[in-house]
Amino acid sequence: MGIIINKLGSCFAAEVLGIDLRKPLEEDTFKQIQDAFYEYSVLVFRDQDLNDEQQIAFSRRFGPLESSVKSNPYSGGGGQVIVLSNVNEKGEIIPPNSDQMIYLSGNMLWHSDSSFKRIPAKASILSGREVPPEGGETEYASTRAAYEALPDEKKAMLEDLIATHDYSYSRGQVAPHLITQALRDELPPVPQILVRTLPETGKKALFIGSHASHIVGWPIEKGRALLKELLEWSTQPQFVYTHTWRPKDLVMWDNRCCLHRGRPWDGRKYRRIMHRTTIAGDGPTVRP
Ligand SMILES: [Fe+2]
Repeated sequence: MGIIINKLGSCFAAEVLGIDLRKPLEEDTFKQIQDAFYEYSVLVFRDQDLNDEQQIAFSRRFGPLESSVKSNPYSGGGGQVIVLSNVNEKGEIIPPNSDQMIYLSGNMLWHSDSSFKRIPAKASILSGREVPPEGGETEYASTRAAYEALPDEKKAMLEDLIATHDYSYSRGQVAPHLITQALRDELPPVPQILVRTLPETGKKALFIGSHASHIVGWPIEKGRALLKELLEWSTQPQFVYTHTWRPKDLVMWDNRCCLHRGRPWDGRKYRRIMHRTTIAGDGPTVRP
C-alpha cells in the first residue's frame, strides 16, 4: 500500500499516513515524502513510535544533521538529538519557574531553528514522546505564503536586505541572566538574507523570527520595526497551521520557509517530552 497525503492547513501542512518510519524507506517512498515536504513545508506523521536511532536514521535521509549548541546546558550539549522536556533524569516534573524552563520558554517566540547559525538549518524533525492532553501545541506560520501575499512594492523594497540574527539577543528577551560569555563566543551574530529563494521550487519566503535582531545598514529601531511588521504579517491566521500533538506524532518542517512556536501548557501537571533532530542547511544565505 502506498502512502496517503492529506492536506491539513489552508495553504500548507499535510499529514502522511500509511508509513512506518522505523523501517528503512524504499527510494520511491522517500521521494514522495521529499516532494510532499517541498510542497507543504510541514509534514505530520502519525503513530511513529521511534527511538533516537530510528529518528536519526530517518532524518539522515534528508541530509547531514546539525549538532546542538554546546554551551546551551538545557538542550543537547553538542549531540544530534535535542531533548526538549519538563522532566528531569529522575522522572520528576521540572518546575515551570526553574531556569531550565525559563530558558526553554524562548521556544514560545516565533522562530526558525538555528537561524542564528551562519549556515541555518534546513529542516527540523520533532518527535512527541510524551505530550500533554491539553495545551502544548506547536504553531507554524508559512513565510512563503506570507511573502507571496505581500504587495509588489513591498517585495521590491525587501529584496536584498540582510538581517542580523543573534541568539543572545533572542534568548536575552526571556532569560538575560542565562546568557553566558561561552554562549556569546560560540554563537556570534550572523547575517541572513531577508528574502530566501528555495532552490527546489524557486519560490521565495521571508526569513525572519525571534533571532532576527535588526537590519544591516539600518538604524537598529527602524530595522526592528520592519522585522516586527513582517512577523505580524506572517503570523496572521490565514498563514498559520496549529498542530495539536497526539502521542507518537512526528512532525517535520522546513525552517527556510516556516516559523514555529510552542504554546503553553500546564507544566506543573503535565509532562511533555519532545526529541528533535535537525537537518543542516546547504550553505550560508549570505556569501562571505
Ligand atoms: Fe524551535
